[in-house]
Amino acid sequence: MRRNADFSNQFRMVGETLSMAPDVFLRDLWYMPALASSLRPGDMRREMLLGEPVLLGRMKDGALFAMRDICPHRGVPLSAGRIMPEGSVECPYHGWRFKGDGQCSKIPSLTGEETLDIQKIKVRSYPVREQDGLIWVYMAAKPGGAPKSEPPRAGSSHPMRWTETQTFRCGIDHAVIGLMDPAHGPYVHAHWWWKKTPRVKEKHYAPLPNGFVMTPHKPSKPVYSLLGDVTTEITFELPSTRFEIIRGKLFGLTFKVVGMTVCTPRDAETTDVIQTFWWPGWLNFIYPFFWTLGPTFIGDDRKIVELQREGLKFNPNLMLIQDSDQPAIWYHRVKKAWAESVENGTDFVNPVQERTLRWKS
Ligand code: FES
Ligand SMILES: [Fe+2]
Repeated sequence: MRRNADFSNQFRMVGETLSMAPDVFLRDLWYMPALASSLRPGDMRREMLLGEPVLLGRMKDGALFAMRDICPHRGVPLSAGRIMPEGSVECPYHGWRFKGDGQCSKIPSLTGEETLDIQKIKVRSYPVREQDGLIWVYMAAKPGGAPKSEPPRAGSSHPMRWTETQTFRCGIDHAVIGLMDPAHGPYVHAHWWWKKTPRVKEKHYAPLPNGFVMTPHKPSKPVYSLLGDVTTEITFELPSTRFEIIRGKLFGLTFKVVGMTVCTPRDAETTDVIQTFWWPGWLNFIYPFFWTLGPTFIGDDRKIVELQREGLKFNPNLMLIQDSDQPAIWYHRVKKAWAESVENGTDFVNPVQERTLRWKS
């Protein structure tokens, strides 16, 4: 009985959520737009994030910075300027300079006799972190807002071994839902190395601070047998971070492989799906599998959302069903609760309850 009530409720809630303007991004969270290795000292470039042009760069001393890629003087993109040796960005139009925190440090046309206080001129800056070989940018609800948390950690002591980025032409919600959808596997990823005859699955889920986890279990896909006898645990936390933690023992040695997938919203209709893996060096024999199969696997998901776009442009009502769409339902609930907590300035209360889900895939 509860299930039915739950279902119809959710059905309406989700129907509205999916058909509303897709440009509502969650704030007060960290997003991951780029790998740390993609910015050498003295590099900078525009990175679109949540529909905002962000100038992401590294001063010559290696310090990372992120600021709005719009010169406050007359709007020229600062990314078209240059990084100066003393640690500032120079606008290409009139040469105004800005420090990494957005503070204006020089206006070349001033003679020194003016009353203008350049200390009052600032570009919006964004908190930025570099860890695990990744760059995280904090998108505050209020411009200039200080981070209320730190970005997620990969929790691996090994360097990043493999990464792949693909651009999905869809909003963040469809990218995220596609990632956590257990029922599409046999159709979208119908490769011999992934496919298995569909059977009933039963997986246990528990809440996490900002999301939920499919608790450790033995994976059924044949490709995991490369690693011997393993268990895997899959987490999801807002805004769009999924970790898969595979633990096992091979040749008498225990190991941990960590996979992270983030959906980074560039704008309302463009989302980068960035996947990264860490594992110990002695497991490097798995590299060729990632190198050959990884892009194909993510590409499967990318192609299906492009096809989905052909239907979504008519703004249809959509359905989420029990139990296979339950993770997607949780995603919407967690997202809604987060948006409300930011809006009202209240603590976030995770609506997810511990539960076992059953589906066939
Ligand atoms: S527009 Fe940037 S210095 Fe004038
Ligand atoms: Fe998929």
